[in-house]
Formats: sequence, structure tokens, C-alpha cells
Amino acid sequence: MNNKIMVTGGCGFIGSHIVEQLLEENYEVIVVDNLSTGKLDHITSDKVHFYLCDITSDEFQQIVQETKPDYIIHQAAHVSVIDSTIDMMHDADVNIRGSLNVIEAAKQHQVKKIIFASSAAVYGKTQYMPIDIHHPICPQSPYGLSKYTVEEYLTFASQYYGVKSTILRYSNVYGPRQNHLGEGGVIAIFANNMYNNKDIHIYGDGEQTRDFIYVKDVVSANIKALDLGDDVILNVSTATKFSINYLFKVMTSILNNKVNPLYLETRDGEIKDSVLCNKLTKECLHWDISYSLHQGLKETMDYYKNYTLV
Ligand SMILES: NC(=O)c1ccc[n+]([C@@H]2O[C@H](COP(=O)([O-])OP(=O)(O)OC[C@H]3O[C@@H](n4cnc5c(N)ncnc54)[C@H](O)[C@@H]3O)[C@@H](O)[C@H]2O)c1
Repeated sequence: MNNKIMVTGGCGFIGSHIVEQLLEENYEVIVVDNLSTGKLDHITSDKVHFYLCDITSDEFQQIVQETKPDYIIHQAAHVSVIDSTIDMMHDADVNIRGSLNVIEAAKQHQVKKIIFASSAAVYGKTQYMPIDIHHPICPQSPYGLSKYTVEEYLTFASQYYGVKSTILRYSNVYGPRQNHLGEGGVIAIFANNMYNNKDIHIYGDGEQTRDFIYVKDVVSANIKALDLGDDVILNVSTATKFSINYLFKVMTSILNNKVNPLYLETRDGEIKDSVLCNKLTKECLHWDISYSLHQGLKETMDYYKNYTLV
């Protein structure tokens, strides 16, 4: 019998792609989501056992007790970096207390492992590139702080309770079903505005860089981590830096669109460059990226042709 996998946040952007691939590989899939940013129609198969539930609740413990998942892929989170600076309590409640509830459930109900969606936001200001997992940790937002706090709890839970985990620090993820909130949200916004003939805003000179990774490459890292990479911290990234100007150029060339962007003032606190080393991830997970930026953007643009951000 195939393993049972619980995906928290399985109705969200990244979670729903993980669910899709798990089903493809014949895993039994349980989704827990409170639909705060996720959508039920992101789950397209009736084989999924769906629970409308908040990860901070006592009900979550009962669901884990009843469904007995072998693994938990923990994606549910409050994902907006900006909102985390406005409401730290809410961010901490979902991202720290909610994750502790997940860890507690794993400890109580013999879950084999938690795969945790962490973020490059834990590093804060770039001190050298490519950023490897030994780079200083200096989060610049409550969101980054909460992700790092959970990483520390997971390390503790492994040492004291034997709850295994793999911590995956994602760079900027993009792809179909993304909304404008997440860390790779700029691509969803550009695509949406291009199709709807709205202005495209670029902050600063557009030469700031990010490590944009296609969602399906993030999915494959999560699935590899079910069997490999116990109790390690890994970057999930392309290890390539793309400027916002280059991104814009590729997207307009895919659409054959001649529009010009509007350059606005640099936003306060914006990190200039970010690229994450993925060498260790390749070694530990026997993983590699499969999508070029062009391929990933093409699939993403195809999706936004028929979908408007709200
Ligand atoms: N998108 C990125 O670029 C990026 C980068 C780094 C890390 N991450 C992490 O990846 C994970 C998935 O992010 P995403 O971009 O798919 O965001 P998303 O908002 O699309 O997905 C989050 C999902 O979690 C659900 N959720 C939120 N709070 C919940 C709660 N209290 N109880 C139950 N469900 C809850 C939402 O309804 C949603 O379905 C998050 O942990 C995020 O921090 C994302």
C-alpha cells in the first residue's frame, strides 16, 4: 500500500501542485486547508480527502489522529511578507503556533517526517552570493523570523522527540495558480497586467535580481524529500539570478507584446540581489531543476491567458 501524505495548505498555489503530483504517483492524499488564500477548485481530483480546517485548531490534532498520515508536507502559512510587518501577531499565530500544532500532531501520532516550506526570507540582507545554508541568518520581516523560528523548533523536535524533518528554503517561486501575495508574486502580477492592458510597474532601475524557480521544480524537491534528506536544511532554487528587466523582456517576447514598463522609485528595504546555492540540495535529494525560465514562464503565461487575478 502506498504512503499516506497530508498536505497542509494543499489548496494553495504550491500545495495544489504538490497534491497533483502526489496523486499522479499514486499516493493517498489528505489536504487540510482553511481556504484563507487557497481555493477548493485548485483541487481537481475527487480522490483527495479534504478537510476544511485551521492548522492552529484542536480539530487539526483530531484529523491527524483519525487519518494517520505517514508524512506531512507542511505548506500552510500566512504568506505575505508586507502584511507580516503590519500584523505580527497574526503572522506568528499561523506560522509559528500553527506549525507547532503540526509538529505536536506529528509527535503524538507517529508521523514519519515533516517536510517544511521555509523561505529565503530567513537570510535577510545578502552578504555574499550564491547564498548557501551557512549564510548568516538575519530576517528582515516577521515572516522571515517566523519561518526561522519553526526551523529551530523542527531541529529541537528531531533531537528531543525523534520527529524527522526536511527544511526546504524556497527562493522566489512562480507558476500557474499563484496570487499576488507570495514571494514570486511579481510574475503573476506582470502576466495579469499584460493580458489586461494595465501598466506594468518596475521599482528602481529593474536591475535588481531574484532567483525565480518554477513551481514544478519545487514540487519535485518536496517529493524527493519524502525518502531523502532527513534532518537537513536545503535551498530550493535555480542558483541563477534573473533581473526584473530580463524577466519583463522574456514575458513580453512570449506574448509578442511591445509594451514598456513604468519605472517607479525603489521600495524601502528591498533587497538588491538574491541567488541561492542549490549544490547541497542536488546532492542530498538527487534532485535538479527541469524547467528553464522560458519554459516555466510559457506555462505560466498560458494559464493567465484565461485567469484574471482578483
Ligand atoms: N510563493 C513563494 O514564492 C514562496 C517562497 C518561499 C516560501 N514559500 C512558502 O511556501 C508555502 C506555500 O506558499 P504559496 O505561495 O503556495 O501560498 P498560498 O497562499 O497560495 O498557499 C498557502 C495555503 O495555506 C492555506 N492556509 C493559510 N493559513 C492557514 C491556516 N491557518 N490553516 C490552514 N490552512 C491555511 C491557504 O488557504 C493556502 O491554501 C508557504 O509556507 C510559503 O511561506 C512560498
